[in-house]
Amino acid sequence: MFDEIQFDRIKRLPKYVFAEVNELKMARRRAGADVIDFSMGNPDGDTPEHIRQKLIESAQKTKTHGYSASKGIPKLRQAICDWYKRRYDVDLDPETEAVATMGSKEGYAHLAYAITNPGDVVVVPDPTYPIHSYAFILAGGNVQKMELPFDEDYKVDEDLFFERLETAFHVSFPKPKYVVVNFPHNPTTATVTPEFYTRIVEMAKRERFYIISDIAYGDLTFDGYKTPSILSVPGAKDVAVESFTLSKSYNMAGWRVGFFVGNAKLIGALQKIKSWLDYGMFTPIQVAATIALNGDQTCVQEITDKYDHRQDVLLEAFNRSGWPVRRNQSSMFVWARIPECARHLGSLEFSKRLLVEANVAVAPGIGFGDYGDEYVRLALIENDKRIRQAAKNIKNFLQQFDCKGSE
Ligand SMILES: Cc1ncc(COP(=O)(O)O)c(C=O)c1O
Repeated sequence: MFDEIQFDRIKRLPKYVFAEVNELKMARRRAGADVIDFSMGNPDGDTPEHIRQKLIESAQKTKTHGYSASKGIPKLRQAICDWYKRRYDVDLDPETEAVATMGSKEGYAHLAYAITNPGDVVVVPDPTYPIHSYAFILAGGNVQKMELPFDEDYKVDEDLFFERLETAFHVSFPKPKYVVVNFPHNPTTATVTPEFYTRIVEMAKRERFYIISDIAYGDLTFDGYKTPSILSVPGAKDVAVESFTLSKSYNMAGWRVGFFVGNAKLIGALQKIKSWLDYGMFTPIQVAATIALNGDQTCVQEITDKYDHRQDVLLEAFNRSGWPVRRNQSSMFVWARIPECARHLGSLEFSKRLLVEANVAVAPGIGFGDYGDEYVRLALIENDKRIRQAAKNIKNFLQQFDCKGSE
């Protein structure tokens, strides 16, 4: 009915490939299969006890039950700024340079909505966490892609990155207004050095664009690697905002707490649009989030250690099963290049076959962009025993391909 009534905005969204794998996964489960699920970055651990207790305590105080503050209660915004000061020695004004969001995903959607004029161009490295590009596409903008260059140890080739970024600026019309960067990177786990940010801030000032940096996995680092922040670069606040989330560091994915800090013009735009759209997170969640950021950080190290250990278990088991994968320095993922003998299938077909024939669910790389199609992403959310079981299933699965002699 009413065929003339069409939803153009929604039409700009392609079919969600993850939904396809997800439907298949549910169907397998309904049929009784024990699917080992690495497909989504949804932490399997509990939110630490002291954070849960604070939520309960605050929820019992009935004064916390009304509408809250859309940009975040003052104590949470102060805790966010203190966290940056402790960690990166960056000074931020909680009134004008910080905003709490309902998970950082909501922040991306609404920031892009607030700052994108029709036809504005954003540069987003490919592959990417989908909201980094689709937030802008939904807002009426266009994405100039560039392939993210990284080596076999998941380190960004920074010279090549800037070569490609310069090219993206030369080929794009109109000139890009925004660049989104995300290191440690989802899905590739790739990392950068602090100099990377010095260079991009310098380029932003020269070419006149804003940078949006996402450090969602900033806490989850191994082997001595420490995540740098763009805001540590002197003058970065002139051109950059940065986002973080409590979802991963504190196993709080379902609580929906994240934040954006930095450039007052962009933060102001996000605060303003949110003031029109929402009344803020439930206050007890904000109080508990304040405790998470201000409190003992032992839990963060424990969560990090778990992913570090699981990565070891997975790499060892996968190597034995005929799927060699190298170690990364960060995140809760493994970005695994499909064994050469099966690469011709493409990541979606490979993922579907792996699910149906080996009961192992992974995220197909194509879901993160065209340049992801030789890879799949595995989230380290299954325990050691199930990781090893998955590797056994995969070994049998790979036997149908002629993998001998391939890397
Ligand atoms: C790179 C990156 N940024 C942001 C998010 C969104 O996190 P949340 O909305 O839970 O804060 C995710 C979630 O997986 C992510 O991978």
